[in-house]
Amino acid sequence: MVMKDPGPIYLLTGNTGKLKEIGRWLQPLGVEVRLMERTFLEAQADSLEEVILTGMEVMEKEGDIEGPFIKDDSGLFIDALGGFPGVYSAYVQRTIGNKGILDLMGDRNDRGATFRTVIGLYQPGEGITLLRGECPGAISFEERGKQGFGYDPIFIPRGEERTFAEMSVDEKNSLSHRIRAIKGLIDYLSRCSG
Ligand code: IMP
Repeated sequence: MVMKDPGPIYLLTGNTGKLKEIGRWLQPLGVEVRLMERTFLEAQADSLEEVILTGMEVMEKEGDIEGPFIKDDSGLFIDALGGFPGVYSAYVQRTIGNKGILDLMGDRNDRGATFRTVIGLYQPGEGITLLRGECPGAISFEERGKQGFGYDPIFIPRGEERTFAEMSVDEKNSLSHRIRAIKGLIDYLSRCSG
């Protein structure tokens, strides 16, 4: 479905890979995704929702926003670790990495974990809408696979035996938290255009 005269949506990110990925998914709607070059307050909070909402509300108060914009935030929430690394996923990946997570897990059998993505959509005059995507699964006992990035070598999506890093990009996309959130955004934008 192509939206009626949708205008561009700005994406707040330092990651041009994300710009390309989200841009490709929104293209069939006729929506152009442009890079928004602005600083975003990465708030410290217990949930992805709060991180996004706090940062977006600060921007809203600052004013001078070009048009609708989106910001996404993702994390890996491990049940046995009380949801850690969760909102700290990027920092933990940079510091202790997958080996550190496997050490923390040791040989415990309770290995449930969920990848989550929250996308915040800010529309001038309409405020903020949150779209969520999740992928439930489990932490492997060792790193496996070479594809993907971040926690992919230690995350096995539910119903699979392979880690995300052992799957092709298309296979991972069919299960991924981020793509599920993007599909939620597409549904929402399609509904908005009537
Ligand atoms: P971001 O909010 O998309 O930057 O994600 C935060 C961190 O979570 C990243 O730096 C990665 O370490 C991790 N992460 C998010 N999505 C994925 C994924 O699909 N695979 C593996 N790691 C991910």
